[in-house]
Parts: sequence; C-alpha cells; structure tokens
Amino acid sequence: MSEKQKFLVYRSLGNGSVRYERYEVPLSKGMSILDALFYIQDYHDSTFAFRYACRGAICGSCGIMIDKVPMLACRTQVSTIKTAKKPLNLPEVVFGDITDWDHENEILIEPLPNMNSIKDLVVDMEPFWKYYREVEPYFTRDWNDIAPESAQSPNEMKIIEKLVYCILCGICWMCPVNSKNPAYLGPAQLAKSDRFVRDSRIDSEKQKNSLSRVLQDDAVPACEKLFVCNKVCPKDVMPGTAIKDIRDNWVSER
Ligand code: SF4
Ligand code: FES
Repeated sequence: MSEKQKFLVYRSLGNGSVRYERYEVPLSKGMSILDALFYIQDYHDSTFAFRYACRGAICGSCGIMIDKVPMLACRTQVSTIKTAKKPLNLPEVVFGDITDWDHENEILIEPLPNMNSIKDLVVDMEPFWKYYREVEPYFTRDWNDIAPESAQSPNEMKIIEKLVYCILCGICWMCPVNSKNPAYLGPAQLAKSDRFVRDSRIDSEKQKNSLSRVLQDDAVPACEKLFVCNKVCPKDVMPGTAIKDIRDNWVSER
C-alpha cells in the first residue's frame, strides 16, 4: 500500500463561513501540491475549487498558501515541502482557527492572502487586475512597432530582464501594506511600471504618464520597504528592488 500524506485544507463558500477539512492523499513519485489538490477533488470532494492552467510555473494561476508560505502549487513538491528552505520572517496571516494543525505531519493549504476567497482557494483577483491596468503596462506609440524601432541591445535588455519574468501570480500581494491599505497599488504593479519606465524603447511622454501614477501617495511612497515581495516571488522578479529603483530615481521629481 502506498504511503499517504495528510492535508489540512481551507474551505469556504465565499460568504464568510470558513472551515478546515482533513484529507489523505496517496503519495506518488514527483507529486506536486497541485497533483494532490486534483486527488482531493477527484476522490474526496468534487466541489473543491482551486485555480490552475499551465501546470508548469508559467501561467501564474495556482498561487496558494502552503504551510503559511505563498507558493505556486504546481512547482512545489509534496515530498520535500516539510524540509524545504522557507523565507524567514514572513508576516503572519490568519484565515481561520487552525489551533489543531499538526505542523509536522499535515500540509496546510490556504488561499492567497489580502484577496477575498470566492470559493475555497479561488480568490477574487479583480483588485490586482484593476491596479495592473492603472499602470498601463504596454507601449503607446503612433507608429508601427517594426524593426529597427523595437530593437534593444543585450545590455538594454538586461536592465529589465528580471522584471519581464513576472507571471502575475499575485503571490507578492502577501505584502503587509496590501493588507492594511486596500488603495495600495501593489508590488507586482509597481514592478511592472518600472519594467516600462526603464525600457529603452519607451518615449518620454509615456514614461511621464507611467511615473505620474506610481508616484502618487498610494503607490511607491506607500511602500514600507519590508521586501516581503522579494522573499516570496517565485520568479525572482524582486519587486521591492524595483520600487526602490523608482524611489531612488524619480520620487524627487514628484
Ligand atoms: S512580482 Fe513575482 S510574486 Fe508578484 S505577481 Fe509577479 S511573479 Fe508573482
Ligand atoms: S498552473 Fe500555471 S503556474 Fe501553476
């Protein structure tokens, strides 16, 4: 008989009622947390809801809390989660009563923080997208984007390379500023703005527009330099460093 892993899983109907359910999942080689969620849905409760798409750490859909750390479910292995190195000094996030959680033997599964649960692990990301749209993450040009206009040197690309890797998973919204200030634009959004502001192909008018939004009080100045976003980002985008970049280079122009 195969070995089993115990899970303690957040369940909610999105109406404020929260409960935690216990499930056992037979282990298989290379099993990811996402695989385990599928097992729970297939064999324990077909109404269990969670998001996923690519299963390859690309689409950004499967961000959840695993043992109180926000991670991509598809990229996290069940067999190593208890021994894996975790980021230190993360803010405490409380969803419900888990006083009976057996830390050593149960994997705790919860939704991403600072967004409302619509059902189980599925959170409402509309605030994330609303603020994303506000930084206008695209070029605005009145000419065709054809070579050589779109060319970048390798060195110019290097400046924005890390920022381009963002998969919009929302994991960095674990930031405590997101928790206490719903108007805060958010780490991913500010990193995305930095990605365009620093792009060699941006024109000065677009750069000015982008900066005028992210220099408002609820954006870069609201960041408390905690760098939680840098610690948890699964793609090493370093949003906190991007915010610092905007602060260092542009805040004096407010
Ligand atoms: S900056 Fe990192 S954590 Fe935040 S949305 Fe992008 S990939 Fe996810
Ligand atoms: S399913 Fe796409 S990132 Fe995990």
